[in-house]
Amino acid sequence: MENNYLYIDAIYRKPVKRTPIWIMRQAGRYLPEYMKVREKHDFITVCKTPELATEVTLQPIRRFGFDAAILFSDILVIPEALGQHLEFLENHGPRLSPQILLDEDVRKLNIEDIESRLSYVGDAVKMISTSLNGKTPLIGFSGSPFTLATYMIEGKPTRNFKYIKQMLYHSPQRLTDLLELLTEAVVRYLKMQIEAGVQAVQVFDTWGGILPVHLYEPFSARYLKEIASKLKPYGIPVTLFSKGGIDLARQLSDSEASMIGIDWMTDMGEAREILGSKFALQGNLDPTVLYGSKDIIRKEVNRVLEVFGNDSGHVFNLGHGILPDIPVDNVSHLVETVREISEKLHDKQAD
Ligand code: CP3
Repeated sequence: MENNYLYIDAIYRKPVKRTPIWIMRQAGRYLPEYMKVREKHDFITVCKTPELATEVTLQPIRRFGFDAAILFSDILVIPEALGQHLEFLENHGPRLSPQILLDEDVRKLNIEDIESRLSYVGDAVKMISTSLNGKTPLIGFSGSPFTLATYMIEGKPTRNFKYIKQMLYHSPQRLTDLLELLTEAVVRYLKMQIEAGVQAVQVFDTWGGILPVHLYEPFSARYLKEIASKLKPYGIPVTLFSKGGIDLARQLSDSEASMIGIDWMTDMGEAREILGSKFALQGNLDPTVLYGSKDIIRKEVNRVLEVFGNDSGHVFNLGHGILPDIPVDNVSHLVETVREISEKLHDKQAD
């Protein structure tokens, strides 16, 4: 296999022969080979054992030939390294305890030497990079400060985000103190991943969209922008993914990121009009389109690709993570379709 840097080239808007594709949560439960590993090892063990993390990172690359690999880990390793207890309950998702509710809970979080408690991630990055051998770029990642704070304060996935919203409106300074600490932790964590060998990073702001639009800047976007500008000297592309529509994505338009991730609720054409002159865009197929028929998948893929036509500056992805019960065949169909249609669109450029 030749070296494949379509993902990096598209981010820097260099000409590409087709649109690169990878998908969020590409290593996960929809893959039978992932479930085989999980029969023997629990999720945290896979994250913390570089050989296992390497194996599952490579599984979707082997099966589908995606144009980027993403480090296998989880955003919640940062709260654990800061001192919370982390568990993943089968079918119920993550638990962090004790919840961060009071000033003293924030003060107790231990950022000193946090890199040493996350060194297994650096070890995994080195091992994955060695296996990829420069053939496919490796993406590192972190949760955004606000998204991490939601899990740290709520302690588990929630519907109404009661505790973080209580803190937001009752003790905003406490939330700000936590977000500032998390921003430092995220920057240090991503620097560690870059030094270990990732060629790009993505920050997932999965829950910023629960904020009213006027509070997105002071409680989430400003920290995303601080992270992007602090990583700028490292010279690798930074992607900011926010989920919550164009009114949030638009608030990242003065960031130093290279690419903005667009969720599936947003019209890609509108996103391109607003952000496309400054940033590459990633996205944004509705993940549930993959439950659909092959014809519908094709039609929806075409809709996204046509926004960019023969231009570069687009990385194909879902508008959020793939769901665990998506048929694997539909993912193969997706990848083939993106390749076929985008190659045709890009061919036109050469005529
Ligand atoms: O994209 C990849 O393939 C890389 C790995 C990755 C995982 N989590 C593995 C994972 C990445 C990038 C994440 C990010 C993550 N984790 C986010 C942000 C992106 C998003 O999807 O919103 C969030 C909010 C989390 C927190 C988290 N991790 C939750 C809420 C859950 C439980 C829900 C669920 O899907 O089960 C997890 C578990 C998790 N993280 C799994 C995987 C493969 C499933 C664990 C298992 O094997 O049982």
